[in-house]
Amino acid sequence: MAKPKTVFFCKECGCESGRWLGQCPACKTWDSLVEAPKDSVGKKAHSGIGTGFHTQKPVTLKEVNMESEERLSTQMNELDRVLGGGIVVGSLVLVGGDPGIGKSTLLLQMCQKVSEAGVSVLYVSGEESLRQIRMRAERIGSFTDCLKLLAETQIPNITEVILEDKPSVVIIDSIQTMVNPELESAPGSVGQVREITSTLLRLAKEQEVSIFIIGHVTKEGQVAGPRMLEHMVDTVLYFEGETSGSYRILRAVKNRFGSTNEIGVFEMQSTGLREVENPSEHMLMGMPEGEPGSVVTVTLEGTRPILVEVQALICRTSFNLPRRTAVGTDYNRLNLLMAVMERKLGVQLSACDAYINVAGGMRVTEPALDLGMVLSIWSGYRNQALPTHCVAFGEVGLTGEVRAVTQARMRIREAVKLGYTTCILPQADLDALKEELPEGMKYIGIRNLTELKNAFRD
Ligand code: TYD
Ligand code: MG
Repeated sequence: MAKPKTVFFCKECGCESGRWLGQCPACKTWDSLVEAPKDSVGKKAHSGIGTGFHTQKPVTLKEVNMESEERLSTQMNELDRVLGGGIVVGSLVLVGGDPGIGKSTLLLQMCQKVSEAGVSVLYVSGEESLRQIRMRAERIGSFTDCLKLLAETQIPNITEVILEDKPSVVIIDSIQTMVNPELESAPGSVGQVREITSTLLRLAKEQEVSIFIIGHVTKEGQVAGPRMLEHMVDTVLYFEGETSGSYRILRAVKNRFGSTNEIGVFEMQSTGLREVENPSEHMLMGMPEGEPGSVVTVTLEGTRPILVEVQALICRTSFNLPRRTAVGTDYNRLNLLMAVMERKLGVQLSACDAYINVAGGMRVTEPALDLGMVLSIWSGYRNQALPTHCVAFGEVGLTGEVRAVTQARMRIREAVKLGYTTCILPQADLDALKEELPEGMKYIGIRNLTELKNAFRD
């Protein structure tokens, strides 16, 4: 068989070339040429103005068949939530994350649950041999025969199996190992990733099979084979967390069929991933009581309030330039808040090193964390602990004002549920809630950072 012709085209301007070039001759962008099969790069012979090539007719909304919108539950609450209520039939989902974070484990576990419900599943691995997958599967538990494995990297072979076996759910582990032999470029290159994804997209829509693609994230924080991949798929999920810690968070970055605010929390154990239904309890596990520098705050992840502990270690600097580090939150925000504190509370923070840590492996960038950070820095600086069973949330502005946050009531309710008895919050939220304030909590409303001084004067 003659090798199908491929051409190179520029990602930026679309300029076409017969061979690879380092710089696009038209727009002069470097390293922007990608390989693609010749017939997929627009046919020049046709003007594009209708000749009745095909017979698709426009329809009204009512005429559209809704059956394909049905959802398949993964039987894992955390995963269902992030997907927006289950797997949409015929959808293409990208699961990204650092190598070793647990993507293969998560999807293999999903396969286990889904196949237990009698749904046919195909797990295609280009990374591990069948034996290695089996070893992993044995750690996780028992599997039914509805799950089929395939160790293959050639896309034509994979699509053939899918057309023949007609599984309802397919996992491709990982996109970077798959190859379309029509292209000369190496597996994982932009051209390959783009071609394979568009093949899988067509297959998903035509055969009504839901396909999950695993993608490793490059050091720059992108799924290798740039952002283009994210535009093509229906849903993009990121699996994140510290590889050294055991908590993992699954986050939707894009979702055509649901909200992108939801997160799923998992814990990596020796028998696979365990769903964490009540993340607050786990985030606070092992928290020191009555220690200076430790403050509990309530952050909102999607519709879920989660209690996290903010820790601050403040000590005199021995250098001209104080050291500052922020783990689990925004470094610039830390600097900003310390500057505001220095001004409004009159504390000499510029002579101090500051280390901030959001314990538990969560990353919080929400402004409602501000007040918690300020309090922990203040408590750390004065070496004086906050009252026990106390939570704090609120946004802090540049003039030291403490501003209202979203969903204050929901945050308070979560804190009450976990046995907290004192809540420091923006006065604006306190005024807005009034009668709706949950009982069993002592409220301290704050308008400005200067009021903090009075609240804790000893
Ligand atoms: P894996 O799913 O292979 O990561 P990825 O596909 O994202 O590269 O996860 C690998 C890590 O998970 C590895 O460091 C071992 C750990 N692990 C457990 O702790 N318990 C288990 O039951 C399994 C299967 C893996
Ligand atoms: Mg893997």
